[in-house]
Amino acid sequence: MKIGIIGPGALGTFLAGIIGQDHEVILLGRKDLPLNRVRISGKTDVESSIQYSINPSDLTPCIYMIFCTKSYDTKQAVELVRPHISPDTGVISLQNGLNNERIISEFVDPERVIGGVTSHGITYRSPGEVFHAGQGYTYLGLYPKGTNEHVYGFAHILQEAGMKVEMVDNIYGHIWQKVIVNACINPLTALTGLKNGVLLEHRELRDFMEKVCYESRDVAIKHTDLPDDDILKEVERVAEMTADNHSSMLQDIQRGRRTEIDCINGAIVDAGKSVGAETPLNHLLQTLVKGRELSSLRSI
Ligand SMILES: NC(=O)c1ccc[n+]([C@@H]2O[C@H](COP(=O)([O-])OP(=O)(O)OC[C@H]3O[C@@H](n4cnc5c(N)ncnc54)[C@H](OP(=O)(O)O)[C@@H]3O)[C@@H](O)[C@H]2O)c1
Repeated sequence: MKIGIIGPGALGTFLAGIIGQDHEVILLGRKDLPLNRVRISGKTDVESSIQYSINPSDLTPCIYMIFCTKSYDTKQAVELVRPHISPDTGVISLQNGLNNERIISEFVDPERVIGGVTSHGITYRSPGEVFHAGQGYTYLGLYPKGTNEHVYGFAHILQEAGMKVEMVDNIYGHIWQKVIVNACINPLTALTGLKNGVLLEHRELRDFMEKVCYESRDVAIKHTDLPDDDILKEVERVAEMTADNHSSMLQDIQRGRRTEIDCINGAIVDAGKSVGAETPLNHLLQTLVKGRELSSLRSI
């Protein structure tokens, strides 16, 4: 079975490595690289043969295509590969952010759009080399609701590759839940330079995080049901589990890269506007991180 992965960064390389153990993988990037193997070290130790390409037509025919770009690149990437998506291809997003699956649905038959969230932690080392820092669960479902044979087939591929996968009826709720967790932890760490766990140790930061959490939850429940009633507990659990980590948003700032703030807190602000809910804290965090982004981009 041929499986296409779009985005040869941390997540894309990781998936190419584990899926490439049993299937033909084509990894699509934008840079010409002499890549025919990928290697995962850390919690997973795997090396797989893959085909790397910068030509979207090499994706034809794929049974599944997985989007692994940053969320701000999703629209452009879908437009690029869309002519090579066959009527039988299941299209999956395992990215962070609220709107990836909605963007994909604008171009692909919704019966074939699979939403996903994954809590694995992967660090990019060099082309074809990633470090698997943290195990986690992956939730999959037809977007925004339900399951079907495409979801089942893809879940089976990941399970065969050794991943813990659960199929869920309301993937949109899970996507919202991860966005809320990221909206609480990522901008505060990006602005302060602190590791995730420190947010729990300081009362002012913890209180602020709690307010962001409830503001975000009040928007979310106007759009969908959340899987956990106590969303704050989930935010605290993730901050505790990843206490020693620098969040991906802080790492982006440190490297002078664009962050996913618009697709996380910014998306909550937009979702709030659509139901008449005020989101001053998410808007503040979005504005401050945009400013921080600008200053780190200018300093390199
Ligand atoms: N890393 C993790 O542990 C993890 C875990 C869960 C979820 N996620 C989410 O997964 C997504 C990807 O994260 P990441 O950490 O893998 O990011 P990343 O390391 O920055 O990788 C993104 C990759 O996408 C490529 N790309 C962008 N546009 C493309 C296009 N049109 N065609 C082909 N490739 C394209 C980029 O190429 P260039 O180098 O040319 O820019 C880059 O290689 C994000 O939404 C992230 O939040 C990440």
